[in-house]
Amino acid sequence: SKGTYEHYMLKEIDEQPGVMRHISQTYLDDAGNTKVNPEIVNAISKADRLYIFAAGTSYHAGLVGKALFEHYTGIPTEVGYASEAGYHFPMMSKNPFFIFLTQSGETADSRVVLKETNKRGIPSLTMTNVEGSTLSREATYTMLLGAGPEIAVASTKAYTAQVAVQAVLAKALGEKLGVKAAQEWNLHHDLAIAAEGIQQLVDGKEKLKEIADKYLIKSRNAFYIGRGIDHAVALEAALKLKEVSYIQTEGFAAAELKHGTISLIENGTPVIALINDPVTAELTRGNIQEVVSRGANIVTIVSKKFANSTDDIVLPEINYYMSALLTVIPAQLLAYYASRDKGLDVDKPRNLAKSVTVE
Ligand code: F6R
Repeated sequence: SKGTYEHYMLKEIDEQPGVMRHISQTYLDDAGNTKVNPEIVNAISKADRLYIFAAGTSYHAGLVGKALFEHYTGIPTEVGYASEAGYHFPMMSKNPFFIFLTQSGETADSRVVLKETNKRGIPSLTMTNVEGSTLSREATYTMLLGAGPEIAVASTKAYTAQVAVQAVLAKALGEKLGVKAAQEWNLHHDLAIAAEGIQQLVDGKEKLKEIADKYLIKSRNAFYIGRGIDHAVALEAALKLKEVSYIQTEGFAAAELKHGTISLIENGTPVIALINDPVTAELTRGNIQEVVSRGANIVTIVSKKFANSTDDIVLPEINYYMSALLTVIPAQLLAYYASRDKGLDVDKPRNLAKSVTVE
């Protein structure tokens, strides 16, 4: 039940620190060693390439997964829309391994890909929130997200759970493959930092309500920009905002805006910039100047490492590869308040259903 909450979406946003702790307890022991079914780790360790398929928010979690898998395991990783791969199957490496990310475990577009995967005898893993779901039953292996039931149509805690469980798998796999980055990675610590950081951000939710009311609710459009993992989060942030607030929002690789789309920036266009990537933080500041000089209302969401006194939301410090877990929280809250303060049906946006069982 919603308890004292006005909406499931806010309840589920607030539950994320607990979800991080639950994943840590489920998949790590007290010494920080991973507890993943060794058969899964063994099977994936033979792969020369990982293929992640998913839809919507789960696809965006897969984009973060790609960064995690490539950094901590050294295995090249591709991420695709299930709806595209179903009928235009990707070109395969010699030893592919398929990962399906799906909160519900019932998404028809993903099922089409899995059917073809099985037909070709390719081993697979479904990461899902629903035990015994169709995609779980039909894949070779399953890892459960354990985020608890997600009722709001807009996915929040399943996204952070998917990022965290992919992190667990990347560590287990990287260790098995002898990758130094994985061996030296204190994931136990990072998940604790994530839980604390999310708590800090949800405790500061009033600030996000103010920003939503001041910049978003009267706007017809908005942009999220970022580079690296911040680009992946920008895509998810944009989906969240548009699906619940009906404000047309695009997520952009920060430097791509100037290659055409910047012509949409007018006086007062909200542009929300995400900055966690150490390699490109300064370059993104430059991209912010480009839109400010065209009249954009800029909102910055910035890691403490790179923050200055003019930034709007300062994110607690965390390992860059885990930064999506924190960056997405203000975006979820902005979407929530934009929808709520426009008087919309937050938990059931028009035209949408919780699980999409048609192609
Ligand atoms: C957006 C949202 C959808 C789902 C997508 C895939 O907030 O919830 O984009 O992420 O329909 O659903 P699952 O993960 O159940 O396969």
